[in-house]
Amino acid sequence: MNSGGGQPVPQSPLEAAPAAVRCLLDQSPLGVVEIARPPLDALPYRAFIAALLGKQGFKLDFNRLAPNEALALVSDKLLGPGAFMPERAALAADIAALAAFAGELAGAPSAIAIRTYFAPGDLVWHVDRVNERTALRLLWPVGRPAGMQVTSADNVDAALHRAYMHREHPLLSRLDTCVMRTGAAVETLWAHRPAQLAAMVSGDFPFIRDPAPIFEIAAGAASIHHVQTPEQPGTWHRSSWANRAAPGFQIVITAAAA
Ligand SMILES: [Fe+2]
Repeated sequence: MNSGGGQPVPQSPLEAAPAAVRCLLDQSPLGVVEIARPPLDALPYRAFIAALLGKQGFKLDFNRLAPNEALALVSDKLLGPGAFMPERAALAADIAALAAFAGELAGAPSAIAIRTYFAPGDLVWHVDRVNERTALRLLWPVGRPAGMQVTSADNVDAALHRAYMHREHPLLSRLDTCVMRTGAAVETLWAHRPAQLAAMVSGDFPFIRDPAPIFEIAAGAASIHHVQTPEQPGTWHRSSWANRAAPGFQIVITAAAA
């Protein structure tokens, strides 16, 4: 990837001033900023994450729970009461710092979710959507073998995409549900749909104008992208095929202002 040239993904450290990162994001033709993070092996809570990844896939919206309360809920249930206390606290602190960072960038409160299952629908190019006036999303997938791919809006034929999703959305929803419930492989479930499967592998869908200007966030890095609202366009993205069998521990922080 990153073979298109001329539009590298802008990078920023987490310690940068939020206003500077916001500028980078707003000036990025791709609508994304990459933020380097330590690899899983270097994280103090790697054993906790590995233990969670050994369990059935789950998703949890924190809602009003603080990160340490939410992680305690998941951990006590899946790994037994009081397991991994120091690791839990360290991960909660990192999640809280990322949520504060996203909130400052957006000037809005952050909502946090974590998930460990893979939704095959993420392999199809899309923009994330919310109903608030303005929103951005910070993603940190921990322990995924590959990153998220992004492309600019002008590389997507919007009318073709609409037609594609009109036809495919119900089938993708069914596929997501089936994978979540059974853990079956996408390539087995859609063996009878070779063209759609090939597009999921390559990212070269019929509505993509040019497969060259597709860029990939580094595996294990965090990234921030625009979310579509009634007032602003979102960033086009998809998951790399390589993540389908190892979705990792995904931290999803959405900062949105009404
Ligand atoms: Fe998405």
